[in-house]
Amino acid sequence: MTTQITKDINIAATALQSGKVVAIPTETVYGLAGIIYNQEAIKDIYRIKERPLENPLIVHTHSAEIFPEIAVDIPEAAYKLAEAFWPGPLTILLKKNTVIPDNVTSGLDTVAVRVPSHPVTISLLRELKQPVAAPSANPFGRISPTSARHVLDYFDGRISCILDGGACSIGIESTILGFEEGFPVVYRQGAVTAAQIKDVTGNVTVKTASTNTPKAPGMYPRHYSPRTPLVVTDDIQKALAGFRGLNTVIIGYSKMCRDLIAEKKIVLPESGNFEEAAAKLYGTLHYADSINTDIIIAEKFPEKGLGSAINDRLIRASKK
Ligand code: TXA
Ligand code: MG
Repeated sequence: MTTQITKDINIAATALQSGKVVAIPTETVYGLAGIIYNQEAIKDIYRIKERPLENPLIVHTHSAEIFPEIAVDIPEAAYKLAEAFWPGPLTILLKKNTVIPDNVTSGLDTVAVRVPSHPVTISLLRELKQPVAAPSANPFGRISPTSARHVLDYFDGRISCILDGGACSIGIESTILGFEEGFPVVYRQGAVTAAQIKDVTGNVTVKTASTNTPKAPGMYPRHYSPRTPLVVTDDIQKALAGFRGLNTVIIGYSKMCRDLIAEKKIVLPESGNFEEAAAKLYGTLHYADSINTDIIIAEKFPEKGLGSAINDRLIRASKK
C-alpha cells in the first residue's frame, strides 16, 4: 500500500467512508482515525498501532450536539465543560450509549469524547457526519506524532492516507476528565489545566498515572518513549557529570541549560512560555532520538500550568 499525504479533505473522507484507517491532524497530536461504526476499521487501528485491546479509543466529533447520540446520564458539568473548552484539548468520559460499539471502548461502560479544534479535522468531521475513533498516531508506547512527517516515518505503507494539517499547535495529548460520583476527576493532564476546569465546575481532583489504573486503562506508567534511554533531572549539570564518557544530548529550558557547554543541546523556550515548549516537546524528542546518542538528558519543568503535563510526559518517557 502506498501512503498518500494529502491536504484534501475529500480524499480522507472517501477513504474513511470505505472503511480505511486515515491519519488526521488535531491541535494536540495526530490521530489514527476510523469511523466508529466500522468494526474492521477499529480492528485495524489496534492492529496497525499494536495497541493492547483493553486500551479504549477516544471518539472525535464536530460538536457537543452529539452527546445524546453517544452518551447517557450526562452530568450538567459535562455540558458546561464542553461549552467552555470545545473545540479544544479536553476529552470527557461519559456513560456510554449502547450504540457505541464495544470495541471502541474496550468493553467499558464509559466512552471518551472530544471535539478537536483543528479546522481541517472539524471540516472533515462535518462532512463525514459520523464520529471517528482516533488514538494518537504512533506505535504503542512510542512518542506521539506532531507532524504528518512523524506519522509517515511510523506508518509508511501501512495506512492509506495522512491528512496533512501542518504542525500541531499544542503538541501534547488532550486533558482527560471523567466523573466519580458526579465529581470531576482529571486522569491525564494536558493543555486544559485542573485550575481552568475548577473555574468552570467549582471542584476537581487530579489522579496521576500511578493511582488511577483501573479507571483509565491506557494510563500506562511507561509511554511516549524514545528508543534512546531518557533521564529526567532537576539538575542537568550534575546529571551530565554522572554520564561523562557517554554520548549525550541535553533537552532543557532554564538558564543553567542555556549556559551549559555541551556538544549536543536543544534549548526549549524559557519558563514563562510553556505553551511553546509543549508544542516543541515531541518534535524535539523525535529529533533527539534520531541523532544516535547513548542517552537523552531532559530537564524537569516547574510544576505549574503546562509544566505538570510536560513533566508527566517526560517522566513516562523515561520509564524502562
Ligand atoms: O489529544 C488526544 O487526546 C489525542 C488526539 C488524537 O485526539 N488522542 C489520544 O488518544 O491521545 P490515545 O488513544 O493515545 O489516548 C487516549 C487515552 C488512552 O490512555 C485511553 O486509555 C484513554 O484515553 N481512554 C479512552 N477511553 C477511555 C475510557 N472510556 N475510560 C478511561 N480511559 C479512556
Ligand atoms: Mg497515545
